Amino acid sequence: MSTLLEVRGLSTVYHTSEGPVRAVDGVDLTVGRGEILGVVGESGSGKTTLVMSLMRLVKPPGRILKGSEMLLDGEDLFRLPRSAMPARRGRDLALIPQSAMHALNPVIPVDRQVAEAITAHGEARSKAALRTARDRLREVGISPERCHAYPHELSGGMRQRCVIAMAVANEPKLVIADEPVSGLDVVVQARILRLISELRESRGLSMILVSHDLTTVAKICDRIMVMYAGRIVEAGETRTVFEKPLHPYTRALVEAIPQVRGPRQTLRAIPGGPPDLNHLPPGCNFQPRCPAAFADCKVVDPSLEEAEPGKKVACLLYHEDERKLEA
Ligand SMILES: Nc1ncnc2c1ncn2[C@@H]1O[C@H](COP(=O)(O)OP(=O)(O)O)[C@@H](O)[C@H]1O
Ligand SMILES: [Mg+2]
Repeated sequence: MSTLLEVRGLSTVYHTSEGPVRAVDGVDLTVGRGEILGVVGESGSGKTTLVMSLMRLVKPPGRILKGSEMLLDGEDLFRLPRSAMPARRGRDLALIPQSAMHALNPVIPVDRQVAEAITAHGEARSKAALRTARDRLREVGISPERCHAYPHELSGGMRQRCVIAMAVANEPKLVIADEPVSGLDVVVQARILRLISELRESRGLSMILVSHDLTTVAKICDRIMVMYAGRIVEAGETRTVFEKPLHPYTRALVEAIPQVRGPRQTLRAIPGGPPDLNHLPPGCNFQPRCPAAFADCKVVDPSLEEAEPGKKVACLLYHEDERKLEA
C-alpha cells in the first residue's frame, strides 16, 4: 500500500490565561491509500484539535507550531498559504464534522447542499451538479423522493448520510471523520459504519476516523492510534491493539467495553479523568491513573517506541533502555 498522508511532529497549542497548552503534542502518523486509520481517546485527549489541525481550520487561541509537517501525496499542506486552503478542502481533504446536524444548513434542501459542495469545489455547473448530488445521495442510501427534503425532515442517521455524501462529493483524496456516529443509536451507528466501509471498497476511500469509542474504530479501521493528553501512546494494527493492548491506558479502554457474552462482570471504568493540560504530571502523563505505574514513571516521560514489529507504545514497561538511562 502506498503512503497518501504523512504527518510529522504535529503540535498544536492553545494560548490560555495560564499559558500555552499543547492539545496535540508531536504527533506522527501515516495513512496509506485505501486505508482507514482510527484515532481513539477519551474526551479532551486532543482528537478534534488533531482533526482541525489537519484541515488547517484551527482558530485562535489555537495555533499549529512551526516545524509541523503534513505531506499529502508528498506536498506539505502546512506550507501552503492560508488562501490556498479553501480550494483544497473538499477536493484534497474533506471533513465529516463532529455534529452532522450543525453541518447542514436548515433552510436548504439536502440535494442543493450537496450540489453546492460540488460547485464550490468542482467545475460542474449547477444543473449537472444537482444531478451528481442526487447520484451521490442515492449512493449513501437516500432515495430520490427524499433528496429534496430539508434537514429537519430527515432522521439523524439520514442527515449523517447526507453529510457523508457531501464529504465524498468531490472524490477527495482523504476524508477525516470526527466522531461520525456519536449521538446515533446503535443500529444506525452500525449502518453508517457499514456505509463508510462500502464507500471505502467502492471508491478506495482513504480515511481518518476519530472516536472516543474503541469498538467503533475497531469495527472498520485497519490500524488504530490511541491518544492521551495530546500524544499517541499506542499504535498498531487494529487486531493487535484490540486483542493484545500493551499500554495500560489502552488496556483500560479495552476492559471498559461491556461484554455481552460470558459471565456477568462489573463494568470497569478508568479511575480519574484526563489530565489538565496546564498542570501535567511529572514523568508519564498517564502515571497518576496507571495501575501499573512504578517509581520511574514519575520521572521519565516515555517516548513512542516500537515494542513489537508494527506495534508502537509509549510506556516504560516496554522500554528497558529508557529505564536504565535514568538509573
Ligand atoms: N479553543 C480552545 N481554547 C483552549 N483550549 C482548548 C480549546 N479547544 C480545545 N481546548 C483544549 O484542548 C484539549 C483537547 O480538546 P479536543 O481537541 O476538543 O479533544 P477531544 O476532541 O479529544 O475531546 C482539551 O484539554 C481542551 O480543553
Ligand atoms: Mg472531539
